[in-house]
Amino acid sequence: MQLKGKHILVGVTGGIAAYKTPILVREFVRRGAEVKVVMTPMAKQFVTPLTLATVSKNPIVVDFFDPENGQWNSHVSLGTWADAYVIAPATANTMAKMANGVADNLLLTTYLSARCTVFAAPAMDLDMMRHPATVKNIETLRERGVEIIEAEDGELASGLSGKGRMAEPADIAFCVESYFARRDGSLKGRKVLVTAGPTYEKIDPVRFIGNYSSGKMGYAIAEELASRGASVVLVSGPVKISARSQNIDVQKVESAKQMLDKAKAAFADCDAAIMTAAVADFAPADVAEQKIKRHGDFSIQLVANPDIAAELGRMKSEKQIIAGFALETNDEMNNAHGKLEKKNMDFIVLNSLADKGAGFMTDTNKVTIIEKNGTTTPYPLKSKADVAIDIIDTLERLMSTIQK
Ligand code: CTP
Repeated sequence: MQLKGKHILVGVTGGIAAYKTPILVREFVRRGAEVKVVMTPMAKQFVTPLTLATVSKNPIVVDFFDPENGQWNSHVSLGTWADAYVIAPATANTMAKMANGVADNLLLTTYLSARCTVFAAPAMDLDMMRHPATVKNIETLRERGVEIIEAEDGELASGLSGKGRMAEPADIAFCVESYFARRDGSLKGRKVLVTAGPTYEKIDPVRFIGNYSSGKMGYAIAEELASRGASVVLVSGPVKISARSQNIDVQKVESAKQMLDKAKAAFADCDAAIMTAAVADFAPADVAEQKIKRHGDFSIQLVANPDIAAELGRMKSEKQIIAGFALETNDEMNNAHGKLEKKNMDFIVLNSLADKGAGFMTDTNKVTIIEKNGTTTPYPLKSKADVAIDIIDTLERLMSTIQK
C-alpha cells in the first residue's frame, strides 16, 4: 500500500492507449490511492466514463459544467486536491497544448492550475513521436518539471513498429510510487551503496573465473532501499536481472578491481554500504592476450583480490554504516563474527548453505542478522524481497542512532 492516502488525478486524452487507463487506475487503487479521473471529450471515444468511474470509485469529469443543472466542475479544486496528476495517455495534441498554455478543455485548465507534480505518459505513432514539434514540446514540458514517463518501443496500433507505445500501467504506477518514496520515504535524502552479483576474473579473451551468484539478494535490497526513498548506487557484477526503480543508479562492472574502484568512489558521500557481492577471492596473475590453446595439463597462478568490504571498513567514518554478508558452510557463527570484526562492519547477515532454500540462485533466503553489539536475530525462510525488508529495518534502526 505504497500510495496509501495519496490523491491521484488521472488525465485521459484521446489515444488508443486509453484502453489501458482503467488498468492504471486499478493499479493506483490497489496501492491505496484515492483516484479521480478527468477526460478530454475525445478520450470518451476510446474508453467510457462508466468504466473509469467504476474502477476509480469516483464520478468522471469531462466538461466545465453539467448542462443539466449548471454545476461547475472546478479545475482549481481538482488541481489542489491532487498530490500527483498523471496524464496517461498523453497525446501529441495535448502535450502541444500543455507546452503552449492552451486551455480549451478541463484536463488542460486543470494542468495549468495544478500545484502538484505532473506526470505525462506519451503514446502516439512513431512518426508523430519523432517529429521535431513533438520532441520540442516534450523537452519544454520536461524543463518545466513535468515528469515524462517514456514511451516504449514495440508494435503500434497503426501496424507500424517503433517508439510510441504507452508505458505499461504497472510501470507508470511504479514511477509515481518512486516519486512519492523520494519525497516522503523514511530514507529520503539518504544515499546507500550496494554491491551485488558475482565478479568475473579474466583468464584470456574468452574465459573467466566466476561464481554462481545471481545478484537477486543485492538487487532486492537496492529496490527496498529505493522504495523507502534512498538514492542507491548499485555496483553490480554481471547478472541477468535489472533494477526497476528510478532511484537506483546501476554501475556495471566485471572484475573485483573494477568493483573496488566504483565502490570506493561512491562510498565517500554515502550514509551506508551493504556488501552483498560474491567477490572472487582470487584473480589470475596474468591475463593471456590470446585464447590459451589446449596442450595437456595447465595451471593458472592466482593472486588475492582486494577485499572491498574491508577497504570500505577502513574508510568508514563514525556517521557511516557498513553491512555485509557471510555465506558459510560450517562453523557459521564463529566465521560470521570473525568477518564482522575483521571488516569493521556494523552488522552481518549470515546465511548457511546447510539451510535448504538459502544462498545462491534461489528466490528465498534464511538469514541470521548479527550486530556489532552482539545482538543476534534469526529469521525464518523468506523470499529475498522479505529478507531485504528485515535487513533494511535493521539498517534504519542503526541509522536512527547516528546524528546526520
Ligand atoms: N567481500 C568483499 N570483497 C571481497 C570478499 C568479500 O567485499 N574480496 C564482502 C562480501 O560482499 C560479503 C563479505 O565481504 O559482504 C563476506 O564475504 P565472504 O565471501 O563470505 O568472505 P571472505 O572474506 O571472502 O571470506 P571466505 O571466502 O574466506 O569465507
